[in-house]
Amino acid sequence: MPVLEVKDLKVSVGDREILKGVSFSLERGRIHALMGPNGSGKSTLAFALAGHPDYRITGGRIILNGEDITALPPHERARKGLFLGFQYPPEVEGVRLREFLRLAAMECREPFCEFQKLYQDALDRLRMKYLGDRELNVGFSGGEKKRAELLQMLVLRPKVALLDEPDSGVDVDGLRVIAARIEEAARQGTAVLLITHYPRLLEFLPLKKVFVLRDGRIIKEDGPELAWEIERAGYEAVR
Ligand SMILES: Nc1ncnc2c1ncn2[C@@H]1O[C@H](COP(=O)(O)OP(=O)(O)OP(=O)(O)O)[C@@H](O)[C@H]1O
Ligand SMILES: [Mg+2]
Repeated sequence: MPVLEVKDLKVSVGDREILKGVSFSLERGRIHALMGPNGSGKSTLAFALAGHPDYRITGGRIILNGEDITALPPHERARKGLFLGFQYPPEVEGVRLREFLRLAAMECREPFCEFQKLYQDALDRLRMKYLGDRELNVGFSGGEKKRAELLQMLVLRPKVALLDEPDSGVDVDGLRVIAARIEEAARQGTAVLLITHYPRLLEFLPLKKVFVLRDGRIIKEDGPELAWEIERAGYEAVR
């Protein structure tokens, strides 16, 4: 059984329909890529799955672990194991990264001692020990913000991780670190949906499937070679 099933999802922002019937599923412990031109609706899909109130679901269903979560508020989806790593992580003044994650981990019923261990390990493996006591994303560089999103994934150990462009603006060494951490999460059972424009990150990752979103619909689903075809020939060539 897939861990996440999205069935004929239709989503509007304001009075404009952005997603026009999107269906796909994610498997436990596998990495799936979602690609598509700018403005095709990738982030809209991620926000709608996470329950962002501006992204109105007008049709279809979201099934997490066999349970219909389409009408649940964001924090309940998160508690049930859905995680979103933002394309543009917000800066939150007055809230330290460690404190934010400690509270989030408690919501996910992670005992404090386990949290301490996971947090320290994750900081270390993402090479961001020096950021642990800073306010959440405040003044972080672009690459540091992306690593802070992955830190949250490693500590919260979600069932499904939607990662919206974790590679954008990341340097070449950072890409390897990020790829290794995504693979680690998948090895521990997380189903990953990796939104990306480039196959570079995919070089380092065992990919199960690539979905292509265009004009609010998934127009193709295929193996990892599809990412390289897109790199070579662009979206116009995807049939
Ligand atoms: N909050 C919003 N208000 C108005 N329009 C929005 C909003 N969010 C998304 N849209 C519109 O929905 C369409 C899809 O945007 P979305 O951010 O989902 O694209 P994307 O595929 O993630 O693009 P990119 O690759 O550039 O990140 C765009 O035309 C965008 O302007
Ligand atoms: Mg986007």
